[in-house]
Amino acid sequence: MKELVFATNNQNKVFEIKSLFKNLPYNIMSLKDINCVEEIPEPFETLKENAMAKAKFVYNKFNLNCFADDTGLEIYALDGKPGVYSARYAGKPPNSEKNMAKVLEDLKGENNRAAQFKTIIALILNGKDYYFEGIVKGEITNERIGVKGFGYDPIFLPYGKTMTFAEMPVEDKNKISHRARAIDKLAGFLKLQST
Ligand code: IMP
Repeated sequence: MKELVFATNNQNKVFEIKSLFKNLPYNIMSLKDINCVEEIPEPFETLKENAMAKAKFVYNKFNLNCFADDTGLEIYALDGKPGVYSARYAGKPPNSEKNMAKVLEDLKGENNRAAQFKTIIALILNGKDYYFEGIVKGEITNERIGVKGFGYDPIFLPYGKTMTFAEMPVEDKNKISHRARAIDKLAGFLKLQST
């Protein structure tokens, strides 16, 4: 079993990854597992740079292979905003209710409600950098619908679906989500490396 750190403290993400990595020869460890207690800065203006900054922090400090993710909601009528600022769109500290309220206010009277979630995963494996992208397209609803999930889920309706992310059972969301798509690509890549 090879060790691979997922630079996150979000236990839901760790759980999701572990289930997708069941058949791979990697022991996935979270920041907690390696006793990394520092808040890793995400100072950049792109998802790609922030994801790589998190992976590099761990790789340099702990000398362990590592990957990290960064996600943003990109709304076409808002020129791609909130994008990399999704967590703190309505200010700090991050607050999903306020973020959704701001998006709904920004889109008041707007007919083009097209949006996408984008996840970038940055991987450092044996000193080399790799990136994996996952996107799910959809639209922003006129109001919050559903109570499941987190973040912007109640106002995101994926294309071709009749339920927002916040109405869907989590297993259904995880089949089509931006994060699942990026993780699938990462898992496929690691599988090739280990054969
Ligand atoms: P992170 O990079 O995964 O921490 O995501 C940044 C922000 O994007 C989060 O704080 C949420 O507001 C939003 N976000 C990320 N993934 C999702 C999702 O699956 N549903 C809804 N919002 C999300």
